[in-house]
Amino acid sequence: MKRLVISTGAGMSAESGISTFRDAGGLWEKYPVMQVCSADGFAADPALVHEFYNERRDQLDTVSPNPGHLGLVELEKHFRVDIITQNVDDLHERAGSSSVHHLHGELRKVRALDDESLVYTLRPGQRTTPATRIDGHAVRPHIVFFQEAVPEFAPATEIVAQADVFVIIGTTLSVYPAASLLRYVRPGVPVYYIDPNPASVPQGVHVIRAGASEGVAMLTRILLGEA
Ligand code: APR
Repeated sequence: MKRLVISTGAGMSAESGISTFRDAGGLWEKYPVMQVCSADGFAADPALVHEFYNERRDQLDTVSPNPGHLGLVELEKHFRVDIITQNVDDLHERAGSSSVHHLHGELRKVRALDDESLVYTLRPGQRTTPATRIDGHAVRPHIVFFQEAVPEFAPATEIVAQADVFVIIGTTLSVYPAASLLRYVRPGVPVYYIDPNPASVPQGVHVIRAGASEGVAMLTRILLGEA
């Protein structure tokens, strides 16, 4: 089977009701990003950061995958699909995608402050504070904060380099290194970009100016030769 590699951003989850970061009314309009999503911010006020992620987890319990997520699962009937997501929600997994790589971490997980290899999945509704101990360890969100390394990026570039088709969905392509994944696509491999308000992209990228649900349906028709 041909390999379809899909890079998704916050727009992938917008139709599920999870706000994006930089659209009007987005998360970074409501919260000071460097206070709630940076290494310095966590050091300065860990309680605020724990609470920010508690609230995002609470919201995650109330939303479901949208037709865009489900459409990507359907494509697994025709392609070997790898999803590389900037999103920390679990909607790709809940939709049924079999290969999901999180570049920026996972909302439902925390890790030990004194040993980052100790990663724990929280129970639904479980909240954390700086006083929380799991197996005796103080914990932090298993999220890549700004100012921190992105350990999953190198493995992701190796997956992109094997793509026969590369697709970008719902991202401003404004945060690195995630935005540079496009550079690892082999020459001649077709690239599609689904976004209702697309960022500027190199010549040759097929832009589908649509939301995720409609865009994935359009992409599917194109890839299956029905368009
Ligand atoms: N379907 C698809 N895309 C959509 C939809 C939709 N229904 N609605 C909005 N979008 C698009 C917007 O046009 C925009 O291009 O989703 C994108 C959202 O962009 P951002 O809010 O910047 O999200 P993202 O690109 O994922 O941010 C990257 O920044 O703050 C960090 O770590 C955070 O992973 C995040 C990273």
